[in-house]
Amino acid sequence: MNAVSAGAAAKAERFSSRRLGVLVSGRGSNLQALIDAIADGRLDASIAVVLSNVAGAGGLDRAQRAGIETVVVDHRGWPSRDDYDRALVDELRARDVDLVCLAGFMRRIGASVIDAFPDAIVNIHPSLLPSFPGLHAQRQALAHGVKVSGVTVHLVTAELDAGPIIVQRAVPVLESDTEETLAARILPEEHQAYPEAVQRILDGHWIVDGRRFEKA
Ligand code: GRF
Repeated sequence: MNAVSAGAAAKAERFSSRRLGVLVSGRGSNLQALIDAIADGRLDASIAVVLSNVAGAGGLDRAQRAGIETVVVDHRGWPSRDDYDRALVDELRARDVDLVCLAGFMRRIGASVIDAFPDAIVNIHPSLLPSFPGLHAQRQALAHGVKVSGVTVHLVTAELDAGPIIVQRAVPVLESDTEETLAARILPEEHQAYPEAVQRILDGHWIVDGRRFEKA
């Protein structure tokens, strides 16, 4: 076995329990896409816990309907941002999560979480990164006048929305688009892209080479 295939095998081993922790702050349609993909066999995984920083997040209802454990860790009232991050790690570790999926989680993930789950945190972002990182990606795309936008699923690194790209899907941007119509065109692509990217990660035949996520 050469070094690359040994690395790929080690990754497959690392994700062998295929237990996901999904972090949400809002309506949770991407969480639902993961739940549905697991139910119909496109994604070979289980969701060990859905965690939210917002008590009323719609994603929590979706999880409960699917019989998935939910935990709320409110981001307010912690002595520091790092204390909050450590609390997240504790909740995830307590449930033996081996891949963390950010699905509309509206908090920056800090070093404590990234160090606890190296190359094992994925995020979904509604633009073709590296264009339009951060908030209001669809609004940024319209303001820039791009003719194509889309969705990116990527590994999470310390730099915001800049980690190795796993899957992208594109949609046209129309003259008549508003932020809402563009977001509505991107969303179904998100729901395809996220389970596909998570399955790729869990399958383990990949390496990170600099910025690049590559087959191994
Ligand atoms: C999605 O557009 C996702 O790309 C972004 O936040 C939104 C979350 O939507 N990170 P939902 O809660 O999954 O419906």
